[in-house]
Amino acid sequence: MTTKGSILSTVGLSKHFSGVKALDKLDITVGEGQIHGLIGPNGAGKSTFFNVISGLLPPSEGEVYFNSVNTTNLPAHTIARMGLGRTFQAARMMADTVLENVMAGMYYYCETDPIRSFILQPRVFRTQEREIRQKAMEALDFLGMKDSAHRWADDLVWVERQLVQIARALVLDPKLLLLDEPTSGMGIMETEEMKGVIRHVRDSGVTVILVSHDVSLVVDVCDWVTVINFGEKISEGNPRQIQNDPKVMEAYLGEEECVES
Ligand SMILES: Nc1ncnc2c1ncn2[C@@H]1O[C@H](COP(=O)(O)OP(=O)(O)O)[C@@H](O)[C@H]1O
Ligand SMILES: [Mg+2]
Repeated sequence: MTTKGSILSTVGLSKHFSGVKALDKLDITVGEGQIHGLIGPNGAGKSTFFNVISGLLPPSEGEVYFNSVNTTNLPAHTIARMGLGRTFQAARMMADTVLENVMAGMYYYCETDPIRSFILQPRVFRTQEREIRQKAMEALDFLGMKDSAHRWADDLVWVERQLVQIARALVLDPKLLLLDEPTSGMGIMETEEMKGVIRHVRDSGVTVILVSHDVSLVVDVCDWVTVINFGEKISEGNPRQIQNDPKVMEAYLGEEECVES
């Protein structure tokens, strides 16, 4: 059950942690080919939404439809293979090269166990590895990071780490890419670079859901925005409508008051 032209929809989606309603009966529809912003103050439920739709956490109630398939309660690796890629707010890197870090995105979801096939079918393993390496190089090239392929991942600056995470997700040819706070901790120049990358991904045919705390980023790059607070949808519309919605201002103002107190 996906509305025509949509790639993802949730129906009455809830997630409770003990007494906390992290998601509360959320109906969200994401249009195919768009950059869909999901914003809300700290603790609003944004990361939980990503964790539930990508299969990392089971919902307490409700349903998720991805690409016309009911994916509620399917395991994360199955949903990923169906074309849902994601990044995490904390961009953790393996102590290896950039290229190996990107290739890891593919190994994780390989049909075969790489260690097993290395021992039992070395030729198949080598062919598979060559293909994965090529795919990873293509993803790095797409993001303008080909020249960094053999650098040590630990040496990367924050924006480069986010790009490696995106490349790692792109090797699986996702239809939908979830970006969780891709500009957190970045300066103006890096944020501008990331905006270009997000548009570039969307223009290549991948739908993007962008979670961000940064309202100006979302207003700048998103086609459509959903605003949540305390797990509930409080507003929805194009960036201009969101900017002028008193409920949105109130939610963010409340947050500022909390921070100051
Ligand atoms: N694994 C968890 N266990 C218990 N509570 C959680 C867990 N994950 C998130 N929460 C709570 O759910 C609410 C939403 O959190 P989160 O989705 O991380 O918000 P956001 O990403 O919008 O900042 C918060 O109150 C948070 O403390
Ligand atoms: Mg979060």
